[in-house]
Amino acid sequence: MKTVLFSTKSYERPFFDEANREAGSPHELTFHEARLTEATTELSRGHPCVCPFVNDILSEAVLEALHRGGTRLIALRSAGFNHVELDAAARLDLTVVRVPAYSPHAVAEHSVCLMLALNRGVHRAYNRVREGNFALGGLIGFDMADKTAGIVGTGKIGALTARILRGFGCRLLGFDVQPSEDCLAMGLQYVDFPELLAESHIITLHCPLNPDTHHLIDADAVGRMREGVMLINTSRGAVVDTPALIDGLKSRRIGKVGLDVYEEESDLFFRDLSNEVLEDDQLARLLTFPNVIITGHQAFLTGEALEGIADTTLDNISEFETQGTCTNEVHAAQHTQ
Ligand code: NAI
Repeated sequence: MKTVLFSTKSYERPFFDEANREAGSPHELTFHEARLTEATTELSRGHPCVCPFVNDILSEAVLEALHRGGTRLIALRSAGFNHVELDAAARLDLTVVRVPAYSPHAVAEHSVCLMLALNRGVHRAYNRVREGNFALGGLIGFDMADKTAGIVGTGKIGALTARILRGFGCRLLGFDVQPSEDCLAMGLQYVDFPELLAESHIITLHCPLNPDTHHLIDADAVGRMREGVMLINTSRGAVVDTPALIDGLKSRRIGKVGLDVYEEESDLFFRDLSNEVLEDDQLARLLTFPNVIITGHQAFLTGEALEGIADTTLDNISEFETQGTCTNEVHAAQHTQ
């Protein structure tokens, strides 16, 4: 199927080319670095399949333009689909498919990487030692063993994060609308959200962004947290209300923050802006804290995950092309992701 991919980077193209070659080259792939916006929809004209990435916003206007250009399939190369106006897609008879799981290990391991780096001040130690500063002031961490880790969203990524943290000897608490047997079996205890906030030394977010989780971490939630808590967000930026997070850091209620996602990331992340003036004052403020580590939505970025994304995306397109439907279709009523 003629497929146009938006927001592509040089490092992911070989994975798509290889996956397509291995499948016998059934698809004609055109790669664009440009993001998918109303202005760039013209690039998709004549392509029945469009493949966007996480920060391409598929608004009603974008979907209408794609529909006018002959697109029938939106093949998301992500698990999250909060960036698609699903009602509009359904109205336009556009099928939306996604990659429900590629490497949940990649995201779980990156979440724990942020925890350990923050805990032991690896980001600060790295800079100090390079300057010949071997002083240890400000680098006191804590043993992970016996600390309480609160996992919000115990699906594929949350469960793997729980498994890793169990290996450290953490006590596991969870909050989810659908408790997982796997997590219960590993000793995780489900509690309500306020209890998780009050009890946890580490809170790690692995729920999808949906109307229920939008700004789940707001001023009220921050106020309920244990003094000095560590907060990790590798899910979606808008699960956290950034001003409340900044206030929590300033009041010392929140002791450490690790973010791989940021509510306003779509105009920033995945781009080299090192020669530009940063206009986002909230992000600029977050970058001033010594106890905050931000990575630019890279939690998924392992070779295994890129391979999985390419394979499943192309399988999704093939399934749609041959059968007119797809197992990994996303429906408008699906609000739990
Ligand atoms: P999943 O669907 O396996 O698990 C999500 C869990 O959240 C489910 O157990 C669900 O019941 C729960 N949940 C839904 N609504 C909830 C609510 N209101 N309160 C509490 N829990 C709720 O999804 P998976 O694969 O574990 O991914 C989780 C999220 O991670 C994705 O939706 C995506 O936003 C994010 N993600 C981030 C990546 C990154 O590179 N930073 C890469 C891949 C995913």
